[in-house]
Amino acid sequence: MNILRVIFLVIHIISAGLWIAQFPVSLILDRVRRTLAPEALTAFRVTQGQVLSGLGQMGGMGILVSGFGLIWADGWGLFNLTAPTPSWLVLKQVFYVIAFGIVGALVIPGQAQMRKAAATVAQGNPPADILAIENRAIMASHVVNLIVLINIILAVWKPFIG
Ligand code: HEM
Repeated sequence: MNILRVIFLVIHIISAGLWIAQFPVSLILDRVRRTLAPEALTAFRVTQGQVLSGLGQMGGMGILVSGFGLIWADGWGLFNLTAPTPSWLVLKQVFYVIAFGIVGALVIPGQAQMRKAAATVAQGNPPADILAIENRAIMASHVVNLIVLINIILAVWKPFIG
């Protein structure tokens, strides 16, 4: 194993850990929020979104950059198009693109609306329609975490499919 590949793999595994950490961190922050005074709720929701999206950004970008480094080091390609790619890795790449799409279409817009609402809410929770958007963003980010989990299993298991 050359040293560059080791570095890429270490970054890749740390990034996967940061990304999947969104799930327990979000459960912990939900629990903390239930103990807060009403006037702190909206600001806390915004902070919660910032913490979770920070983990997602570091994890998602780290996985991508180190993933490119790894396929370069291993001589594999993208989607079996640029060079032969094992099926578990093609699946991982497809799942990554789907996760990225969900983040861009649902998670980031939901958080943006939440931040906008926070600027107008003086006290308590934001209005119900904004809460609904935020809940959809949270559900979407749980789906992304599930995809990350599936990718970790695929990466460790490396099943031969097809
Ligand atoms: C959510 C996305 C992803 C997650 C959670 C993930 C997770 C992992 C983990 C945990 C490993 C270590 C497996 C082991 O050493 O046993 C790994 C290895 C690897 N990953 Fe990913 N990965 C993701 C996306 C990608 C992408 C997009 C690429 C390529 C562009 C990629 C390329 C690789 C390669 C080449 C290896 C080395 C496999 C080997 O040991 O032979 N990964 N991945």
